[in-house]
Amino acid sequence: MPRYRLADFAMSDKKAGLLISTAFAATFLLGVSALALSENARADSAPAESDAKPYIVQNGRVDHHVFNGYRRYGDNCLRCHGPDGAGSSYAPALVDSLKHMTKEQFENTVINGRQDVNTANQNVMPAFGLNPDVVENLDDIYGYLKARSDGALGRGRPKQIGDDDN
Ligand code: HEC
Repeated sequence: MPRYRLADFAMSDKKAGLLISTAFAATFLLGVSALALSENARADSAPAESDAKPYIVQNGRVDHHVFNGYRRYGDNCLRCHGPDGAGSSYAPALVDSLKHMTKEQFENTVINGRQDVNTANQNVMPAFGLNPDVVENLDDIYGYLKARSDGALGRGRPKQIGDDDN
């Protein structure tokens, strides 16, 4: 029976590096196509009118998607964009941004980030593409901000549909 030296099996560092980055790229692509798929599924089950709102607010109360968006916004975006999407000296008011941005533009900015290279003060919007807490809840974050932007929802912690009043 032939004997192999360990070196015959060892991968060069270069090869290993390539393998790892390929694995990363594949995982990322999988994630993106999964997102695209769920987007399609959602679109299929959506009502026929194309102007259907991306949120549910009834008598000032929100469904669990909007509430989830409110919480994720608080965890990931508030420190720069201010409470309730109202903006800060560092980052723009998303309540205003969503009056002229499409959902696709919003998603692209959050996933890829953005840097205003023209201003003296280099304010940076970080890329959240690898942050599952943001990526997996992006529809809900968008819904919450769109409800705020449309004026359908006031400032502060929203009450949920079905909650009692205290
Ligand atoms: C570290 C601070 C910071 C955090 C955290 C942050 N942003 Fe930003 N964001 C910015 C800055 C600064 C800009 C403006 C960038 C520019 O001028 O191009 C920006 C721009 C944006 C824009 C484009 C607005 C417009 O009017 O063009 C969107 C949309 C946005 N952010 C969404 C989010 C969301 C959603 C989150 C949370 C998931 C988030 N941001 C978290 C700093 C931040």
